[in-house]
Amino acid sequence: MRLVLLGAPGAGKGTQAKKLIEKYSIPQISTGDILRKAVADGTPLGKEAKSYMDKGELVPDSVVIGLVKERIAQDDCKKGYILDGFPRNTAQAEVLDKVLAEMGAPLDTALSVDVDKDVLMKRLTGRRTCKSCQQMYNVYFSPPKKEGVCDKCGGELFQRNDDKEETIKKRLDVYDAQTAPLMGYYKKKGILKSVMGLGDINEIFSKVCAALGKK
Ligand code: AP5
Ligand code: MG
Ligand code: ZN
Repeated sequence: MRLVLLGAPGAGKGTQAKKLIEKYSIPQISTGDILRKAVADGTPLGKEAKSYMDKGELVPDSVVIGLVKERIAQDDCKKGYILDGFPRNTAQAEVLDKVLAEMGAPLDTALSVDVDKDVLMKRLTGRRTCKSCQQMYNVYFSPPKKEGVCDKCGGELFQRNDDKEETIKKRLDVYDAQTAPLMGYYKKKGILKSVMGLGDINEIFSKVCAALGKK
């Protein structure tokens, strides 16, 4: 299954991707996670990406496209993968289609997770992530048992640099202007599906699996 997850910042792409990995044993390719790791490691890529990410802007296409091309060519992607946060504009989507056509392995589905705008801000300002195992929490909706500590592994929880109100506003604007048009792009291709991303995480996951035709 070669899947693209679409949805606004905070829609739950990462949350649902984690569950899809467990169920279908295919990797999640999150360009945001790859870039954040590069920033944390202080690599040249990270240094270039950081200024864009901190402002809530898109990192240049040339950078992210290179990352994704390299990643999908790896062995563990032969059975399929979940693209989370890529593509993010029409130029990226077009290059992806071209590369996958050359590989003879086009996308199966673009799945959009739809959430009302007013919920997104609370989800993002409340998000906390484990430094060790990347488990996600939300101080409003799914808090850890002990503040600042991961239930799963005891690791320290952190707040993303770009989860500040001003930066979130910018990310939502960038989403509307550049990423939302991809719905039309994939609809035209006949591979767009969507689920409502409000409510219980496990119930949303059931809808995701049903939309993918997998129970
Ligand atoms: P990226 O990391 O992709 O961030 P994003 O798109 O803004 O998406 P998020 O990760 O914030 O949201 P999500 O949908 O994954 O939600 P989550 O599951 O965490 O990108 C970051 C930056 O990197 C970009 O701004 C850009 O600079 C750069 N970048 C990345 N890709 C790029 C590309 N292709 N091109 C150019 N630049 C790129 O959930 C959010 C919160 O809500 C969590 O706390 C979670 O616990 C909670 N939650 C989830 N589901 C529910 C639910 N059903 N009910 C209650 N709470 C819930
Ligand atoms: Mg994410
Ligand atoms: Zn943890």
